[in-house]
Amino acid sequence: LADPTFSQAVIDWQRSHGRHTLPWQNTTDAYRIWLSEIMLQQTQVAAVLGYYGRFLERFPTVQALAEAPSEDVMAHWSGLGYYTRARNLHACAKRVVEQYGGIFPGDPALLAELPGIGRSTAAAIAAFSVGARAAIMDGNVKRVFARVFGIEQYPGEKRVEDALWRRAEALLPETGVESYTQGLMDLGATLCTRSRPDCPRCPLRERCVAYATGRTAELPVRKPK
Ligand code: ADE
Repeated sequence: LADPTFSQAVIDWQRSHGRHTLPWQNTTDAYRIWLSEIMLQQTQVAAVLGYYGRFLERFPTVQALAEAPSEDVMAHWSGLGYYTRARNLHACAKRVVEQYGGIFPGDPALLAELPGIGRSTAAAIAAFSVGARAAIMDGNVKRVFARVFGIEQYPGEKRVEDALWRRAEALLPETGVESYTQGLMDLGATLCTRSRPDCPRCPLRERCVAYATGRTAELPVRKPK
């Protein structure tokens, strides 16, 4: 069989080995997807699981969230940390109701103008809600790319990050962006971990520079002092 493309390798792996039953998956409701992506920005999946359902029970729609008193929103966020996220979340809900009639835009550029939604989060929301062809670039994806492509510069540096974004856009599949995006996240979170990468199970092993050169422990490189 022909060598699958990078994106096809990720998609095939996601379909057979990725996560499919997280509570924010199997929906195209942008409100639920947005909420999960904000909670997951600085918090691990396991911790988010304890908050996500309760938050949605209290605020089942973006309108319910927009109308709620801020003390109520903060109380339902309490324990998740990084409380700026909760304040931005509330502000964003109000904007979506006032500016977009309660319907999240599908265009990642418009999403990225809303409070608390950066370029990568905007791309994830648009990919999962409307299948938009938009690239993500979070810490996990930076690690996967730094290893696969053998990037020897610090990925937190602007020029390096810009190059990573360009690569991420060039690698996007024509179809199946939802599976591809979830697959990249799941690879980074479950196989291509920082300290214990499970290379034998990795669908990108055969094209991974770090694996081929024995440099998985060195890549991505740490922040230079
Ligand atoms: N981290 C950020 N977004 C995620 C998602 N959709 N699923 C799992 N982990 C994530």
